Formats: sequence, structure tokens, C-alpha cells
Amino acid sequence: MPASVVAGNWKMNTTVSEAVALAAGVKDGASSAGNVELVLCPPFVSLTAVRDAVQGSAVKVGAQNMYHQDSGAFTGEVSPGMLQGLCEYVIIGHSERRQLFCETDESVNDKIKAAQAAGLKPILCVGESLEEREAGKAMDVNSGQVRAGLDGVTDASGLIVAYEPVWAIGTGQAATPGIAAEVMGGAIYEALRGIFASAADQVPLLYGGSMNAGNAGDFAAQDCIHGGLVGGAALQADQFLQVAAAVAAAKA
Ligand code: 13P
Repeated sequence: MPASVVAGNWKMNTTVSEAVALAAGVKDGASSAGNVELVLCPPFVSLTAVRDAVQGSAVKVGAQNMYHQDSGAFTGEVSPGMLQGLCEYVIIGHSERRQLFCETDESVNDKIKAAQAAGLKPILCVGESLEEREAGKAMDVNSGQVRAGLDGVTDASGLIVAYEPVWAIGTGQAATPGIAAEVMGGAIYEALRGIFASAADQVPLLYGGSMNAGNAGDFAAQDCIHGGLVGGAALQADQFLQVAAAVAAAKA
């Protein structure tokens, strides 16, 4: 079975000092998360401070994005090399980046390859919109995003895939564990098997979209769900730790 992981995507929230306080709160309570790997993904400007704040603990740090080029005239972008030493993980292809910042399956694929080449662990995000779900395309959209995002990728080690249905993000309307399991154990897992064969069995699959302390245990009770990618509930240390504790209990 893959490792259990609960990652907090702080999105465009927290000043540097707020980020440090939040990270310190998570570090202080991290033992309540049992064997669950905790990953904090603050804004770029807080990566250094958050790395320092969690030093000496098992809490890991991730970035929310990166560009695939090594360096050069790419104003406003951050390269994989710049993240080395600051974080272990990097979220790639979040639906907000796809929708608001024009990221495509091709750019997501470039970023996954560049992250792996730099020794970073990518958290590939996939998920269908409400329109796509209502049109009966959810399974095809998710398997297509996995296949395209991982085109030419041969190494599954360090890879995480997060299923985040767009309609469940920030809405308070989480998917049901059954819907999530259908997509994750079906379309996403099958696509990963097709790419990595048995190595797919070690890729953690995270659910994301209005996950909280109340529903996290039900998601993690599904065999094919190994944790969560948490937005709003990750902005309070106690709530984030409760999500992780619920996942730990479900996986124990
Ligand atoms: P919410 O938990 O706020 O719905 O956000 C989920 C998400 O987008 C995590 O990447």
C-alpha cells in the first residue's frame, strides 16, 4: 500500500509571519498524525521560513507550482533548481492554474518531468469540471489528464496524484467517498497501471475538494484513497491536524 499523505495547499493565503505561525502550530501537533506524511505548501515567498519553522520535525514542505525551465528570461517564474533545498514536493497542474493561468496538459507534463529531473516529488492534480461530470465525461477527463500529464514519464517513485473535482473545490460540497473512489480506483488507477505497471501500486492517491475533519475519515476508509490535498481546512493548524488524524485512524 502507498504511504498515507495529507498535504495542505495554502493557495494565495498567509503572509510570511502568518505562514511561520501556521507551520509552527502544525509542527507542535504533528505527533497526532501518526504515520501520515504531513506536507505544507505555502506561497513561494514563505518557503524558506516554513522550511526553517518545521526543521527538526517530520513535517515536509512543498511548493504550489514551478516553471519547467532551468533559468532565463521568464519574469515572475520560479525554476525547479530554485526550489531544491527549500522543499521536497511541488504541486503541479492544480485546476486553479489550469483555469486561471492557462496551464495545459502539455505544460503540466513539462513541469512533471522537470520536477523529477530536479529530484522534487510532484503532486499531479487532475479533476473534472461540473459540466464534464454532467456530460458523463468524468472518467475520460481524469484518465486523459493522468495520461497526458505523465506522457513519457517512466519513474513512479515520489509521484503523488491528487483527484480534485473542480466542482468540489472551495464550495463546501465535497464529493462523496463513493464518487471519489469510482474515479480514483477506476480511471486514475487504471491510467497509472497502464503507464507504470505494478509500480502504480505505490503511488499515493489523494482526494481534494472541501475535505475537512468531518469527512476525511470517510474518504480515507476507501482502499484506493491514501490521504488528502486540503485547501481551506489547512489554514488552521488544529483543523489540518484533525484531518490528518482522521486519515491516520482510517488507515490504521
Ligand atoms: P478546498 O479544501 O478549500 O476545497 O481546496 C481544495 C484544493 O484545491 C486543494 O488543492
